[in-house]
Amino acid sequence: EFWDIIDSSHECNFCHKVYLSMESYDLLVINGLVVTASDIGHFDIAIKDEKIALLAPKGSLAELAAKRVIDAEGGYVMPGGVDAHVHLDEPPLFGKGRSADNYETGTLYLLSKTIRALNARKRQEPDQPSAAAQPQSSVTFAPQSKSDPSLLSVLQQTHVKANQSYTDYSFHLLVSNPTPDVLSEFSALRERGISSLKIYMTYEALQLRDDQILDVLLEARKNGITTMIHAENGDVLTWMTEQLESRELYAPKYHATSRPQIVETEATNRAIALSSIIDTPILIVHVSSPSAAAHIRHAQTKGLPIYAETCPQYLFLTRSDLDKPGFEGAKCVCSPPPREGSEDHEAIWRGLSNGTFTILSSDHCPFVYNDGEVGKKSVLSERYPEGRFRYIPNGCPGVETRLPLVLCEGEKRLGLSKFVEVTSTNAAKLYGLYPKKGTILAGLSDADLCIWYPEGKLEPWRVNNGQLHHNVDYTPYEGREVGNWPRWTILRGKVMWARDEGGVVGEKGFGEFVERGGSRMAGSRGRGRGDWEVQGF
Ligand code: URP
Ligand code: ZN
Ligand code: ZN
Repeated sequence: EFWDIIDSSHECNFCHKVYLSMESYDLLVINGLVVTASDIGHFDIAIKDEKIALLAPKGSLAELAAKRVIDAEGGYVMPGGVDAHVHLDEPPLFGKGRSADNYETGTLYLLSKTIRALNARKRQEPDQPSAAAQPQSSVTFAPQSKSDPSLLSVLQQTHVKANQSYTDYSFHLLVSNPTPDVLSEFSALRERGISSLKIYMTYEALQLRDDQILDVLLEARKNGITTMIHAENGDVLTWMTEQLESRELYAPKYHATSRPQIVETEATNRAIALSSIIDTPILIVHVSSPSAAAHIRHAQTKGLPIYAETCPQYLFLTRSDLDKPGFEGAKCVCSPPPREGSEDHEAIWRGLSNGTFTILSSDHCPFVYNDGEVGKKSVLSERYPEGRFRYIPNGCPGVETRLPLVLCEGEKRLGLSKFVEVTSTNAAKLYGLYPKKGTILAGLSDADLCIWYPEGKLEPWRVNNGQLHHNVDYTPYEGREVGNWPRWTILRGKVMWARDEGGVVGEKGFGEFVERGGSRMAGSRGRGRGDWEVQGF
């Protein structure tokens, strides 16, 4: 046999055994069941200089020199999650209310006792052994208000807000006023590593007309930008809201009445039509309705570059959650609203399984409940003791519960590789983070890992807001049983969360901005010509 000791692993030309260098690694993760979107198998992983350095069959790396070894025997080892829809530190845009989480609390999910003590709103409970963390990359929003003249200055301000982040991050620019000057900034955004933006077909402060949407899509196409669209017909739901108010129907449950599935389905179909006119990729965000999903599937079958996202709230909540006693229903007010029942949930699970939904994000949009000034309760008054649903801040917290909730049921329904695909890999591909994020490729990927407990090692327990680390005084998933929770999470080779060692080991500000390239999703370049060009423009 001949072999060289070189700087990286080396395959013998004759026997094809892999020989390893004498180099020292920063971290070894051995014996785990490694799960990526394409493969599952028992592998060892060696990490050096923040990157995945080696991935080799179980047992083959255990003898390497390393500063630290994690034995993940029996546990799943997955690429770090990529949550591509997170609202942090935003001004009031969705009704009243301010984001409860900033970049520190929103990316922490692993609150040290000191920070917990400083946090007046947080429940004063001791750290529970099952309190947990899920550092993962997130893509948050840099929101333009109608009066902001420049996206670049919005981007700059958001960079300043984000520098306390525990996890890696990037931003989607939220475009609410696409003037010619604003549109002309798209190419500069690409140069600054921003390759996606979000627009709205609803919310007074954000809604665009169809001609404005076409302007945005055309400029996005020229610059290789993916446009995310919030698809609900704002005019119709405002009309419905006024009809309900004229009948003095104000309670939180009427939020769902004012936004039936057709309101989402019509806007989804219109967004698809507008995208096909321009022939540019769009992603319909937070899809809740099976009939909207059917339009998306139909467009995808025609080869249109239409992608879609759903969220845990559309798998686990129903409109009856908005009808809880007192004003509790306000906790689950989000747009689109949770739908009617289990048949709708089944359809959304089916859409995840058959590829209609490209990604599963949290849409973490945190508002405190018990705060009369800025929280969900700020709409209660003597004149309106039931509140007025039209002003309840829209959105639910969920960044920390996304992976455990969905893994718990998704393992059976989707399989492990599909779970990784929709919670990590596809978001990385769609938004230009791949293969740095979203997979475990030796030499290419950041060493971001989420390591779970072995099957049966962790007793199932019920979600309890006291164990979560967001700055919100409730979770919509209180009491729901969860069977697993991350045991270690690793960001660029650094262990950030080690549940058995007391939790937090990562540092504030370790998170970095990640510059993004264009979409790597198959078909994202569209057909080459939009419907308007086919017509001979
Ligand atoms: O109700 C929701 N989804 N709130 C967050 C804002 C948005 O539209 O994503
Ligand atoms: Zn939205
Ligand atoms: Zn959102």
